[in-house]
Amino acid sequence: MSKTLSTLNLAERMSRLGTESAFEVLVRARALEASGKDIIHLEIGEPDFSTAPHIIEAAAKALRDGWTHYGPPAGLPQLREAIAEDVGRRRGIRIDPGEVVVTPGGKPIMFFTILALVDQDDEVLYPNPGFPIYESMIRFVGGRAVPYALREDRDFDVDVKEILDKLTDRTRLVIVNSPHNPTGGVMSGEQIEALAKGLAERDILVLSDEIYSRLIFEGEHTSITQFPGMKERTIILDGFSKTYAMTGWRLGFGVMRADLARQVALLMTNSNSCTAGFTQLAGLAALRGDQSCVDQIREEFRRRREVIVQGLNKIPGFRCATPRGAFYVFPNITGTKKSARALAEAILNEAGVACLSGTAFGEWGEGYLRFSYANSVENIRKALERIEGWVSRNCE
Ligand SMILES: Cc1ncc(COP(=O)(O)O)c(C=O)c1O
Repeated sequence: MSKTLSTLNLAERMSRLGTESAFEVLVRARALEASGKDIIHLEIGEPDFSTAPHIIEAAAKALRDGWTHYGPPAGLPQLREAIAEDVGRRRGIRIDPGEVVVTPGGKPIMFFTILALVDQDDEVLYPNPGFPIYESMIRFVGGRAVPYALREDRDFDVDVKEILDKLTDRTRLVIVNSPHNPTGGVMSGEQIEALAKGLAERDILVLSDEIYSRLIFEGEHTSITQFPGMKERTIILDGFSKTYAMTGWRLGFGVMRADLARQVALLMTNSNSCTAGFTQLAGLAALRGDQSCVDQIREEFRRRREVIVQGLNKIPGFRCATPRGAFYVFPNITGTKKSARALAEAILNEAGVACLSGTAFGEWGEGYLRFSYANSVENIRKALERIEGWVSRNCE
């Protein structure tokens, strides 16, 4: 006799956990492919390049040399040192290796710092549209998620006045992300400085997601940690995924005051134990080795950005700003008179192009689609043709 399964009684907090739809759309796109459809993937946020050979070789060597064991929860000392040196030099600040925690990808830094800092009903400000895991994690830990807007008419830069107006006695953390997913916007130095000034005197921390900091097309990356009093108040999230085309390796890190770093390491002890040692040695080779692979990736993205922005602007009902960083475009599609979700669905099912609805990044993403241009110029051109064909047949 077969046993009947009892009802699954999940903990209440699970009802507050969100998701990242890029992965869901990827699964659906792959299912369509399995049924024989030809799909062009512009949904997932990962560089399509291979990791540079010297990085792969460092990992292979580490495995051959016996790096197959547990290691320290906060990361290997030599990698923490290299990260402290690299992140500090690029931002013009002094970082101690004790302020670095290495994690499997940059994402756990979001998870761990929010878990470590945000209590029930504490308020956290986050960008909307923005990376969906911010809101998910804030709500999961019982915090109050307070969105601030990123608007097309400001080139998707933050409006610091709006952020400062939304601070209350309960605000614990402000999340910023520059260059920004999904819009490709980059915070201007003036806005970052204004935010730093507004926060410097207050007991509020900043989670600064700088995972795209090496993928900027004009000017230099500015980090809020460069402004007086802010290094101590900021957790930098960064990693190897986007910079060195290492998404599948799962290697990232956080930089934060040493007392918080110890707590985040404790969360590592309680969850992953440690990040894989051979992966960390690959990261060390990435930081210490030739950086031309990063330049090549950025220049190729720059070429693709021109193609996709120009192409989208030719499609009736689309209007696409030129993003200054990352590898996403966020065209306004209100001229098509379709909702973002309906349009993204139709483009996937009927035109064979996978992209994301702006609403996958929060409700203020309505009216926009997100395309990741981590695909060849040839495929981008083909995708543009397909979308244009679909729009001309189906929109007024
Ligand atoms: C804004 C942002 N932060 C963090 C991450 C996570 O990066 P990782 O793959 O290193 O966990 C991503 C990945 O898409 C991202 O877009």
